[in-house]
Amino acid sequence: MTENNDVELEARLENRERFEPPQSFVEQANIVDDAIYDEFEQNWPECWTQAADLLDWEAEYDTVLDDSNPPFYEWFTGGSLNASANCLDRHLENRGDEVAIEWVGEPTDEDDRTYTYNDLHREVNEFAAALRDLGVGEDDIVTLYMPMVPELPIAMLACARIGAPHSVVFAGFSADALATRMNAADSEFLVTCDGYYRRGDALEHKAKADEGLSGVDHEVSAVAVVDRLGDEYDHPMAETHHDYDDLVAENAGADVEPVSRDAEDMLFLMYTSGTTGQPKGVKHTTAGYLSWASWTSQAVLDIKPEDTYWCAADIGWITGHSYIVYGPLALGTTSVMYEGTPDYPDRDRLWEIVDGYEVDQLYTAPTAIRAFMKWGSQYPERHDLSSLRLLGTVGEPINPRAWKWYYKHIGNEDCPIVDTWWQTETGGMMLTTLPGVKDAKPGSAGPPLPGIDIRVVDTRGEEVDPGRAGYLTVNKPWPGMLRTLYNNDERFISEYWAEYSDTESDDPADWVYFPEDGAKIDEDGYITVLGRVDDVINVSGHRLGTMEIESAIVGVQGVAEAAVVGGQHDIKGEAVYAYVITEEDSEGNDDLHDRIVEGVEDAIGPIARPEEIVFTPELPKTRSGKIMRRLLEDIANGEELGDTSTLRNPDVVEDIAETVGDD
Ligand code: WT7
Repeated sequence: MTENNDVELEARLENRERFEPPQSFVEQANIVDDAIYDEFEQNWPECWTQAADLLDWEAEYDTVLDDSNPPFYEWFTGGSLNASANCLDRHLENRGDEVAIEWVGEPTDEDDRTYTYNDLHREVNEFAAALRDLGVGEDDIVTLYMPMVPELPIAMLACARIGAPHSVVFAGFSADALATRMNAADSEFLVTCDGYYRRGDALEHKAKADEGLSGVDHEVSAVAVVDRLGDEYDHPMAETHHDYDDLVAENAGADVEPVSRDAEDMLFLMYTSGTTGQPKGVKHTTAGYLSWASWTSQAVLDIKPEDTYWCAADIGWITGHSYIVYGPLALGTTSVMYEGTPDYPDRDRLWEIVDGYEVDQLYTAPTAIRAFMKWGSQYPERHDLSSLRLLGTVGEPINPRAWKWYYKHIGNEDCPIVDTWWQTETGGMMLTTLPGVKDAKPGSAGPPLPGIDIRVVDTRGEEVDPGRAGYLTVNKPWPGMLRTLYNNDERFISEYWAEYSDTESDDPADWVYFPEDGAKIDEDGYITVLGRVDDVINVSGHRLGTMEIESAIVGVQGVAEAAVVGGQHDIKGEAVYAYVITEEDSEGNDDLHDRIVEGVEDAIGPIARPEEIVFTPELPKTRSGKIMRRLLEDIANGEELGDTSTLRNPDVVEDIAETVGDD
């Protein structure tokens, strides 16, 4: 395409606000009838039998929704099933030789690994038997601290097979973060990995796992270690540590009967950041979660068994759980899994994979799209991307410019884009367009999915007018919702329900879920999510608690006080800004700067590393002593400073603004 044409096209797209589903897509889409919205509304909650029908049940459920004890809702009660049987066994007869996981390692000179459903079934059985040998019983929580190796989904499904909930800890998290999560879950088993490849380097991981284990306050019975790096990294093994390959070899050919789980039995825990320093253990169940991941994969990602589908996320986050592992495998499709980064060995790696495997759907995050855009369209242009039929985004708001770049340069103006809003807690997608039914509007996630009741309200819970900013609320339960915070029903209520519910009532109509996001709705009912309204920031689609980062910083010697806020960032969406007051006798801030960075990396991980650390003699506080984060955010964003008259110390703000402006 000539440059002139390009500019013309750009201009034409720039003012376009609606994008109807391409005809070629509609002709083959899983859902094409708009009537589903009304049908689900009229037939709620029975409409969700449609999700349950996507699963194979050992015992049929007798109640779709038990709402007798809100907000502790239960779905498909009386039913029993096994998640691993749903993701594997039931596909064997007709699709055993079809590919389940297409794994691409980062080094380009290494062979990709292809797992058919038969292969995956075999290895899951063998590892499930091995877990049993190690003493894992039903309901024991197994922690998986693993990078993007095939053994991660294998371990997840092996846990599911024997009814042991998994708790996956993102490999980029620190040793401390691992210990905190194992302690909170009382988890006595760990599966980890010697290391992995990142931008050409072999990264050690086992040493970090060992350090984490030393911070666990109870006995850890067994650790299984996957050997990813071979001879590159020789890791010491304690007596309770077992080599993954040995464990699987000892159980070669094992056949493990899938344990029958009640619909409401826990499938997994996933720790996520919240307002306080302590991560929240989000509990998901077998039937509700799996049906939700499956139904949304089919309805929104338009997955069919014959597709090659790719969610370029990390399984260490909920996106990977729902949309690399459980949803796609339950539907019997081929799920691509990539170990490395998009810019290794060059900035066209993703496009090479899409081209090579003829990927049908690509699901990624706005932060990645903004990076692709910055790198330029010459990288995707090197490859044939015509296999793509749908694109998706998740994790943070997408700006219309990035949306349109994705639409044009990756989708060739021929793929619908689904901008999907959801959370760790929702289990799967909540707000987005059904791609064969609804027009997309760049920058707006879209209307709630059928059967989902989401409203934008003011602080009193009254719906706001179109165009006005308000808060998102979910007014009816849904199958994929979290059931509670592990071992903490009280916090479950105070974090998610107290704001808009009558917590004394046992009438479900009085209970409203608050996701802690700000939003706007337009005349067509399309919702634009504005971002978190709590003390959580979203860095490259990753959720970080400001309190967690602050407590890491004040743990550094020489720091007296710290405040952390999110500031806008071109690629990352938000970045971490830390304002730090030093102790009187601490000299030499350069060294302190490095120690703070180190402290944050040790406590959380490199993803939480501050973009900027501002040393200041004071923090802006209200008369009651509360830090005014809003003002610090304005400073980080270089914005006009608003009203500072309610401050105890208004001059401070100007001083800090000058410090930030200096560099
Ligand atoms: C928070 C949830 C959803 C799985 C990955 C992140 C933000 C998520 C969107 C979107 C605007 C979004 C929200 C939400 N978010 N998707 N499409 N548009 N914001 O899961 O770590 O639980 O974070 O991510 O602020 O509350 P998470």
